[in-house]
Amino acid sequence: MSGKNWDRVPIDAQSVDAPLSRSAIFLVVTVADEQPALARVCSALGDLDDLVKNVGFRDLGGRLSCIAGIGRALWDRLSPGRRPLELKPFAPIKGAVHSAPSTPGDLLFHIRAERSDMCFEFERILLDRLGPDVTVVDEVTGFRYFDARDLLGFVDGTANPTGLDLPASALVGDEDAGFAGGSYVVVQKYLHDLQTWARIPTPEQEAIIGRTKIDNIEIDDDDAPRKSHKSLATIEDAEGNEYDILRDNMPFGRPGQNEFGTYFIGYSRYLWVTEKMLQRMYVGDPPGAYDRLLDVSTPHTGTTFFAPTRPMLQALVQDAQEQPAAAR
Ligand code: HEM
Repeated sequence: MSGKNWDRVPIDAQSVDAPLSRSAIFLVVTVADEQPALARVCSALGDLDDLVKNVGFRDLGGRLSCIAGIGRALWDRLSPGRRPLELKPFAPIKGAVHSAPSTPGDLLFHIRAERSDMCFEFERILLDRLGPDVTVVDEVTGFRYFDARDLLGFVDGTANPTGLDLPASALVGDEDAGFAGGSYVVVQKYLHDLQTWARIPTPEQEAIIGRTKIDNIEIDDDDAPRKSHKSLATIEDAEGNEYDILRDNMPFGRPGQNEFGTYFIGYSRYLWVTEKMLQRMYVGDPPGAYDRLLDVSTPHTGTTFFAPTRPMLQALVQDAQEQPAAAR
């Protein structure tokens, strides 16, 4: 272990700023309507921290982390009348050519580790603990692909905020003080048409993404006839301030099934920023000049969650368990 002090490596729940990992599982579940189901799920969520420690401690170098996100409908069942300002279900988007669906999800678990067996073990124990009260609606195992490339062959994640920019972009601040430190999470599961992509010459692929393919250099396309993915996903207000989000996309796939995907996950301080990126990608800027990445990438899911801080999550599930059933 190269003399590194692994005791200091965090194993953590709700750590939005956990480093990019080699492996991840994205698990989306719905929670049964019955009142006892909610109580049991609350109890499991209250134990999330311990569950992460139980598995994470078995290899601290594995850097296991798990973030739980809560969808709007479940949030309202847990905490009627008090929710993060912008939390709402994913709004489907209809562009002239491409659309993004909105799909169900009460809870998202974003499980990350350096080892796929740790992610697997944690998911197994978590689902065991959640029991029959939840239905898995989506489950994706992602992997780090060479130098953080997506399956289209481009390095993905470079422009992510770092240092002080990270909390400023990804975590709610004083604008919603009761939920400060939490984060809006948007996920979309994309499947790629790699055969079509492979027929597009590399310079054209680079113009579509906005970066060179081999060495990952940003392309200045201010004067290009059509904006790249990078430019459509750049959000500025009238004063020229840029608004960013934190992405931890992961490739996934089964070559034998011709399945090649990118699981998009974006954490943001303001939900409107991610929504505006999506609008620009699907509707286009100017309208009609949509993101050509979508010609080879089809979203099969689209769900919005809010990831509260650890103390916020604890308080939420505790309050929910103490509320009279009639209040929910
Ligand atoms: C940039 C891939 C979906 C937001 C990039 C880059 C790649 C990429 C290769 C350039 C390198 C980088 O800065 O990370 C993909 C793929 C997607 C996808 C394969 C799905 C098929 C999305 C979605 C959003 C988004 C749905 C937002 C809702 C961004 C942002 C940037 C970016 C904010 C950085 C722009 C900048 O340079 O400031 N993406 N992306 N991406 N993408 Fe995506």
